[in-house]
Amino acid sequence: MSQQRAVIVGCGYVGLYLARRLVRDGVEVRATTRTPERYPEIEEAGAQPVFAEVMEPDTLLGLAAWEPHVVFDLVRPQAIGPERYSVWGSMNVASAFAEYPLEALVYLSSTSVYGRRDGGWTDENTELSPTSPLGEARMESEKVYQQIHREHGFPMRICRTPGIYGPNRTLRQRLESGAYQRVGDEELWVSRIHVEDLVEGLIAAWKKGKAGEVYLLCDDEPVTGEEYARLTASLLDIPLPPVVDREEIRQELSPSAYERRVADRRCSNRRMREELGVIPHYPSVREGLPSALRAEGAI
Ligand SMILES: NC(=O)c1ccc[n+]([C@@H]2O[C@H](COP(=O)([O-])OP(=O)(O)OC[C@H]3O[C@@H](n4cnc5c(N)ncnc54)[C@H](OP(=O)(O)O)[C@@H]3O)[C@@H](O)[C@H]2O)c1
Repeated sequence: MSQQRAVIVGCGYVGLYLARRLVRDGVEVRATTRTPERYPEIEEAGAQPVFAEVMEPDTLLGLAAWEPHVVFDLVRPQAIGPERYSVWGSMNVASAFAEYPLEALVYLSSTSVYGRRDGGWTDENTELSPTSPLGEARMESEKVYQQIHREHGFPMRICRTPGIYGPNRTLRQRLESGAYQRVGDEELWVSRIHVEDLVEGLIAAWKKGKAGEVYLLCDDEPVTGEEYARLTASLLDIPLPPVVDREEIRQELSPSAYERRVADRRCSNRRMREELGVIPHYPSVREGLPSALRAEGAI
């Protein structure tokens, strides 16, 4: 069998983990950035770096003509002003690759499409009701892919993920610098996923997922935002900052950032486990956070 080819559009934090994992499996990977200074770290991950700007469709044409088996679109909706976002990037990616016989395009979306959930369990069938400009844009990007699937049979899958954490992606820096603000509500639930488990989910969505479907990729056990902050501070042996009034936090953060803090969602990974066969290596942050902090040399 000839070597499989994968394109990662938007090879940032998640993309580098994904590239390493695919290369380990013998997949040939081309991975994009808008920042040529980042080429060396993409090369170190074993992938070939390529310049691409999703708002400039011409930059995607060479990647599409390479005829990859799979494309992972990891680019968020483009900010075009304060709290204004464009979904042209998704349209350009979809159009560039629609001409070619892909096995799958995996679009990494976000659970912001659900809006506030008052602690409710949330799955792929939960109604979309975004409460932030970024959540609205995410929902529009998903619709772009869904439409091209319906009209042309484009083999896309949507993966929605909540907070991603892992080495060098924890609350450590913000707690140590004093930038982290505690909302102080013991009841605000947050689902998360360790970046290594997320990558397994993205690959399984390509190989075992079905065209047109949505998969929620998250760990087994949500914890409250407060528990996450306490756990991080206790592992690092640093004091927790005082609780800040919610209204004060709301004034300081952008509406989308504030909504992330108060969304109060518990996400179910039943479908990820049963249909994609992905069992999280890190069932919750209680296992994943110590591992992440150890990997970055913080504990
Ligand atoms: N962090 C979370 O908790 C979370 C939760 C849910 C969903 N997500 C989503 O997961 C995805 C991956 O996250 P991440 O943490 O890996 O993000 P990241 O580290 O910020 O990487 C994003 C990548 O996208 C590229 N990019 C951004 N705008 C682009 C554009 N206009 N054209 C082409 N490329 C563009 C960036 O290019 P450069 O290399 O030039 O910077 C970078 O390579 C994002 O869509 C994010 O919104 C994240």
